[in-house]
Amino acid sequence: MSELSASPTPSSPTPRAPARPARLVLRAAAAVAIAALGFCAYAVAFPANVPEQVGDIVENLTGANPHPVVLQRPPVAPLSAMAQLGKKLFFDPSLSASGQQSCASCHSPDHAYGPPNSLDVQKGGLAMTQQGYRPPPSLMYLYRQPNFSIGPDAGENDDAPTVAQQATAAANVVKSQKTAGGASTSVEMVPQGGLFWDGRADTLQQQAYGPLMNPVEMANTSIDTVAEKLKNTPYAKEFNALFGARVFDDHRLAVAEAMFAISRYQVEDQSFHPYNSKYDRWLEGRAHLSQAELHGLRLFNDPDKANCAGCHLSKPAKDGLPPMFTDYQYEALGVPRNRKLAQNQDAKFFDLGVCGPFRSDFKDQTQYCGMFLTPTLRNTSTRSVFFHNGIYHNLDQVMAFYNERNTDPGKFYPHGANGKIDKYDDIPAQFQKNVDVTDAPFDRKFGEKPAMTADEIRDIEAFLKTLNDDPVAAN
Ligand code: HEC
Ligand code: HEC
Repeated sequence: MSELSASPTPSSPTPRAPARPARLVLRAAAAVAIAALGFCAYAVAFPANVPEQVGDIVENLTGANPHPVVLQRPPVAPLSAMAQLGKKLFFDPSLSASGQQSCASCHSPDHAYGPPNSLDVQKGGLAMTQQGYRPPPSLMYLYRQPNFSIGPDAGENDDAPTVAQQATAAANVVKSQKTAGGASTSVEMVPQGGLFWDGRADTLQQQAYGPLMNPVEMANTSIDTVAEKLKNTPYAKEFNALFGARVFDDHRLAVAEAMFAISRYQVEDQSFHPYNSKYDRWLEGRAHLSQAELHGLRLFNDPDKANCAGCHLSKPAKDGLPPMFTDYQYEALGVPRNRKLAQNQDAKFFDLGVCGPFRSDFKDQTQYCGMFLTPTLRNTSTRSVFFHNGIYHNLDQVMAFYNERNTDPGKFYPHGANGKIDKYDDIPAQFQKNVDVTDAPFDRKFGEKPAMTADEIRDIEAFLKTLNDDPVAAN
């Protein structure tokens, strides 16, 4: 404030006069600065209440979500008697032929109900020496998995068309381009929903028969042997309490009730669907993303760059249902053949997903050959085995595949006898046209610049880690 200290001189009879406007300006400036600071603090504290552009600035500066939502989580309640029984079944190795394997052996609660190791596929069977066909998916969040269907989204419609009707309708499939956030241009006629990598089971109850009877998994040879085992469990009396004294008279009924109990456990226990990841908290305005995570999220959503959200949906539904990071649809990505799998020792064997061989109802619908279910990416970075054939073991490998499958295929596929790159080597030549080459990041051509840089991949992986749930206390 030099004006104040400047001494008056004879040549300036009104020495203090200029000070007034200057002081006003200063005060005004200070007031504006304080107001701006206050607004910033307000915007940081309540980002939802400020205009869009300001929200973006806040997001950039602080990593806070400018548009928080209220997420609808399933209610948390103590397990029903049925679910408590299901929990015992889930962890009981005595139900397997080897006596060594329970559901939890392949779907470990400490590993987001996915495999507890990095084996390409798990071992099972009577002597625990048989190799499985595919890696176990996570069992988390399956309570929202819709039934298998083909065509425009039938939702939970009770009048859903039969599989035969769907197959006829789907004979002339028009595939529309999937972009993150963008509406598709034509009616989608693609398979969706269902359980297993190929959607061959609809309900968790129906599904549980699979591993119990699968010769390379829990390897029971008949429903009768399973019923016999149930009868001999220390908790057999709980069956009687729940289903009546004569439940074991009818073996099919006893096993069906057991499968229902296992499914209730997966539906009721909060540990299967806690929605407490950093990203969930960020959606609700309760957590800040780091600059790397935020940048990763934007790339994940960018339809021209990574475009992950084109299939692994990242935005909450209007009614507040948290995003599931899958659109429940099937795609052929042309993942390289895993030559280490026992089944692949036979050069003529191909696991083609929806068109077989582990399901047979769509074996003539060859437009679906090579298609597998889009898995959720929640908790994906806790896994150490990826894709339907377990070919990759870390996210760097997965990201490299997405980024360079087309631009530099020699990195992923072997060279054939003719010296040419044997692209899409896990799908017979006549079905390779089913492979997705239109959706980013797969739309780049041979020799072109890949969709993502190394730094961008690093940031997407940082974002993917925000999808890991914190463990919840056992129910
Ligand atoms: C030997 C390992 C193993 C055991 C034991 C096992 N599973 Fe699985 N599970 C798998 C594999 C592998 C798949 C995927 C199979 C496929 O796609 O064909 C799978 C798939 C599933 C799925 C479908 C998941 C999805 O995302 O579609 C559910 C549900 C499931 N298992 C539940 C169970 C239950 C319940 C038990 C116990 C009764 C059990 N599993 C025992 C390996 C196992
Ligand atoms: C066109 C749809 C589509 C797009 C785009 C897409 N994915 Fe996928 N994603 C799939 C399908 C389908 C699978 C399963 C493929 C298989 O196993 O054959 C999959 C599998 C995965 C898996 C393995 C999960 C597991 O449990 O094995 C990861 C990780 C993954 N995607 C991440 C991403 C990321 C990151 C991006 C963006 C760079 C992305 N995806 C883009 C459809 C898509």
